[in-house]
Parts: sequence; C-alpha cells; structure tokens
Amino acid sequence: MNKLLETFENHLLENLPKSKTFHPHFEEALANMLQAGGKRFRPMLLLSVVNSKKSLLIPNSLDVALGLEMLHTYSLIHDDLPAMDDADLRRGFETLHKKYGEVTAILVGDALNTESFNKIANAPLHNDIKVELIKTLSSDGGIDGMIIGQAIDCFYENKKLELDQLEFLHINKTAKLIAGSLKMGALIAEYDLETQEKLYSFGIDLGLLFQIQDDIIDETKTEEEAGKTTQNDEAKNSFVNLLGLAGAKESADKLAKKCENTLNTFDKNLKENLDELLTKYLFRHNS
Ligand code: IPE
Ligand code: IPE
Ligand code: MG
Ligand code: MG
Ligand code: MG
Repeated sequence: MNKLLETFENHLLENLPKSKTFHPHFEEALANMLQAGGKRFRPMLLLSVVNSKKSLLIPNSLDVALGLEMLHTYSLIHDDLPAMDDADLRRGFETLHKKYGEVTAILVGDALNTESFNKIANAPLHNDIKVELIKTLSSDGGIDGMIIGQAIDCFYENKKLELDQLEFLHINKTAKLIAGSLKMGALIAEYDLETQEKLYSFGIDLGLLFQIQDDIIDETKTEEEAGKTTQNDEAKNSFVNLLGLAGAKESADKLAKKCENTLNTFDKNLKENLDELLTKYLFRHNS
C-alpha cells in the first residue's frame, strides 16, 4: 500500500468514534462503514496536495482528511437508504440500514456529518486555516454542492433532464466535493489563490469524470466486482442512460485527456504527487 494511504488508514483506525453507551449497537454501527474500506479518493487528494508543498504538515492534516472521509461516508450511508437509492451492498458489506435498521443508518449519517466538522475544528492547524477548511467542506459538501445534487438526482428519477441540467446535477452531487478536497489540501499547504482556483477547477473536471466512470461501473460491473449494488441507475439521469454506454465512455475518455493535460501544467511537485494517485483513476472506465 502507498505510504500516505497507509498513514491515513492507520489514523482512521486509531480515531474511530470510541464512546460506548448502553445502546446495544450504535457505536459499532458508527464505525462500521468507515472501517469497511473504500478507495479513500478524497482524503488522498487532500493529502497529496499537502504532501507536494508542506510534507511536514501531513500529521497535522490527518484529522482534516478523516473529517472529509466521514462526510463522504455519511453521504453514501444516506444515498443507500430505501428513500434514496435503496441499495443493499456498500464497500463489500451489507448497507447500514440492512444491518442495523433505518433509524440507526440515518442517525449514523447525521453523526458522521457533524463529527466531520468537529474533527476539522480540533485539528492541530491555525484557526484561520480551519475556518477556510470548514467553509469549503460545508459549501461543497452541503447546500451549494452535494446536497442539492442529491436532491435533484432523486427528485428527477424517471424525468429526463436537459444536458446542462445533467451537468449541474453531477457537478454538485460529486464533482464539488472532489474539487473541494483538492482545495482543502491547497489551503493547508498555503498555495497561492491562483493555484487554489486552478486545483478547484481541475477537481470539477476530475469529479465529473469520476461520476461518469461510476455510472459506467453501475452498468457494466457485477456487485461483487464493484462492492456495491449495481444495475441500480435505471430511473436516474446517469451519463449512461443519457449518452449510452459508448457515449459515456467517449465522454470519459475526453475528460480524462483534459485532466491529463491540465495535470501537465501544474508545477513539478504538485504534478508528481497527484500523478501517482490519478494514474489509478483517470482511465479506470476502460478496465
Ligand atoms: C461513490 O464514491 C459515490 C460517488 C460519488 C460516485 P466512491 O467511489 O469514492 O466510494 P468509496 O469511498 O470508494 O466507497
Ligand atoms: C452518489 O452517487 C453520490 C453521493 C453524493 C453519495 P451514486 O448514487 O451514483 O453513488 P453509488 O453508485 O451509489 O456509489
Ligand atoms: Mg445516488
Ligand atoms: Mg447510489
Ligand atoms: Mg453510482
């Protein structure tokens, strides 16, 4: 395993929510989906950007990376609920509501959402940087990002969106949190504003690519291969449903090329640190 990823995984295991009450399973459920695994794409983006400029700040950034992964994990737990995508499998395991019931799954999601900001607020970093990190995560992971994306995604099931609305949906649902992850790394590493903006805009392309690939996975992979429920997008405004499988792959290829080109314009350290992570993901839709 890559060393940065190993450092993150160890930090996550050491910092799983620990409190124990007389609730028979709430604390176990709280740790369940975080422990289950996942690619850790967003925390790795953040840590790779920090590593490219201020590697000494990696230990101080781990709580922020964990907060980010907590918020993302909460979004998956809620995404799988019967009222949303109604999925049975996530990260290779039974979904939380299947295992512990809907009430627990809803409340674990709520808890991971608030705890993500608690982790950042208590991270060993300057307060002014932490305020900027919280602003970024709450906006990209909240009303002006993931939440409105999810709301549109679910409301427009079985109703076809126009292409510009489709793009709005996926930029908000997925791309902004990915762009925000890069920006949060840039805030910690104190990259200049221009680089922060460049990384954010690169992250929007990368996030759109990530969602197109995710839609292709839903269409083409078994649930064993994906580790989550697949063939589940029938009613969705997915890229595959709107463009067809070949069209979605073509769009993914184009965006991956664009991301590659942008990556080549970054300074050497930034490029090298992101390169290692992104070679795994840029063309994963062809595998
Ligand atoms: C799945 O995210 C949901 C999307 C936004 C596409 P990931 O594919 O990053 O899921 P994990 O974290 O690896 O489980
Ligand atoms: C979910 O998109 C995006 C989130 C904000 C969680 P999907 O519904 O396509 O994600 P999967 O395929 O269930 O992981
Ligand atoms: Mg969904
Ligand atoms: Mg889903
Ligand atoms: Mg999907």
